[in-house]
Amino acid sequence: MRKHFIGCIAVSLMWVAHSAAMAAPVDAMINGYRASGGGPFSARAGNDLWHKPFTGNSESRPRSCASCHTADPKNAGRHVRTQKPIAPMAPSVNHERLSDTRSIEKWLRRNCKWTLGRECTPQEKGDLLMYLKGL
Ligand code: HEC
Repeated sequence: MRKHFIGCIAVSLMWVAHSAAMAAPVDAMINGYRASGGGPFSARAGNDLWHKPFTGNSESRPRSCASCHTADPKNAGRHVRTQKPIAPMAPSVNHERLSDTRSIEKWLRRNCKWTLGRECTPQEKGDLLMYLKGL
């Protein structure tokens, strides 16, 4: 009985530690954007940004995050150019998402440039990550 109880606690602690480790990179990034002048951040603003068509890109045609990742980040996407499949962006569906700072930074830079025609501001990046991490 006692052994079982201790076992349960150990498993719970491991789970908590694991969740904390999973959450750390994206939360650290959000804190970084706050330190560079962004905030307060809102998932709602991130949601709006995700769906908003921008025309300031190289072709002056409407492009949005949803162009490749679909309107619902829980869905698998497809690259509008190459047609290559893209795994879902929502961490609840795809546990690998938002777990690697370098990957998030690299793709935000690239995708913001492609979609908005410029890099996203700390405010925009914080809003987008607040939105995505809650999915
Ligand atoms: C032209 C297609 C395209 C558009 C538009 C696009 N993305 Fe992506 N995105 C990709 C591809 C391709 C990857 C990398 C492949 C992968 O991770 O599955 C990616 C990866 C990402 C990642 C990395 C996630 C991680 O955990 O590694 C984030 C965050 C992201 N995109 C956010 C956005 C946001 C925000 C927008 C809108 C500003 C956007 N994307 C627009 C194609 C696109």
